[in-house]
Amino acid sequence: MLRFLKPKGVTHSLNNSTDLILYQALEAIPLGIAVFDGAGKIVAVNSNLSEVFGVASHEVRGYNLERLLREKGLPPDHPLFQTHAGKEYTGPAAPLTGCHPSYASTHYFKGDGGESQGGVFVLWNARCQQELEQAVFKAERLAIMGQLAAIALHEVRNPLSAIKGFLQLLRRELEDARQLEYVEVMLEALDRVNNLITNYLRLAKPGTPERQPCDLEKLIHELIILYKSELKNKGIGFLFSCHSELPPVRLDREQFHQVLVNLLKNAVEVTSAGGEIRIGIEYLKEKDMALLFVRDTGIGISEEALPRIFDPFFTTREKGTGLGLYVCREIVMNHGGEIQIANNPDKGCTVTITVPCS
Ligand SMILES: Nc1ncnc2c1ncn2[C@@H]1O[C@H](COP(=O)(O)OP(=O)(O)OP(=O)(O)O)[C@@H](O)[C@H]1O
Ligand SMILES: [Mg+2]
Repeated sequence: MLRFLKPKGVTHSLNNSTDLILYQALEAIPLGIAVFDGAGKIVAVNSNLSEVFGVASHEVRGYNLERLLREKGLPPDHPLFQTHAGKEYTGPAAPLTGCHPSYASTHYFKGDGGESQGGVFVLWNARCQQELEQAVFKAERLAIMGQLAAIALHEVRNPLSAIKGFLQLLRRELEDARQLEYVEVMLEALDRVNNLITNYLRLAKPGTPERQPCDLEKLIHELIILYKSELKNKGIGFLFSCHSELPPVRLDREQFHQVLVNLLKNAVEVTSAGGEIRIGIEYLKEKDMALLFVRDTGIGISEEALPRIFDPFFTTREKGTGLGLYVCREIVMNHGGEIQIANNPDKGCTVTITVPCS
């Protein structure tokens, strides 16, 4: 038997302490709530709901809930009214809460024979819920678009490799200086596009690293071969040092190659002729970790940029995408390592990576 109805502001009609607690619980719930009996008549309502109805709580008592909802504008064919047979409803209930989108739900109490003994009607403002639903919908669409872009870019990379290969062949055969320059420009542009695609694919599909013992020194030597002529053409000095005791480091070779490419590219971008790039590997024996640094004598990083430097799409470069350092950090973190960037006391900056060797 539901007895805990109380007109707003009155406490003496409550029959016992349990009624009072139940009433207070109803009032404390930040939803509109009405309790109705087997005949659909309201036996209790909290002030959240009576305010929506614009009627005092005690005036609603004994009122047929369905009739009240219809009077408040819910159309007669609304699914909320098709729920007598025990089918409960949860869904939109516009226009009950005026300008706000509202949701309602009904829950029934059943007797031993399955007959309805009344139930609870709950109404809530669904603005947050709708915003959340819209955000999820948008995120799903973006995820699909991201996947499509990843597939498309993956396919684009194959013809690019072919073009690059033939351009490299052409470079060997050309003698005309201007034609050679054109080919160099094309190769550089291709490298940029390739790097962008690789970073994008890494972003779209980060994947767990496949760590295998790797000779870090050898990996860097291979990278330097690729950048040797660029460094020479730009008049940038290069130094490399490696700790003699460094053991093989368990790395995803391909992913770490991408890290080094991104860091070296950044360093080359900011270092002018006469400057120097230094790569070093140290072995932190007591921690069994490898420390790798890339140091340049470029322009350094401004105070404003420093906190945002690893954010995706943060870039100060006209042709930059702002994915390079973000991808580096993702990869390093997936290896259980750390990456930091700091300005040098004199000139330029240094990126430092530490990763566990085993
Ligand atoms: N060695 C560096 N010296 C000075 N600034 C740097 C250095 N490395 C990165 N930055 C700054 O950090 C920003 C982000 O670098 P990040 O590599 O993520 O993107 P990007 O180089 O701009 O574009 P891309 O996605 O093509 O790499 C750069 O735009 C630049 O402002
Ligand atoms: Mg970069």
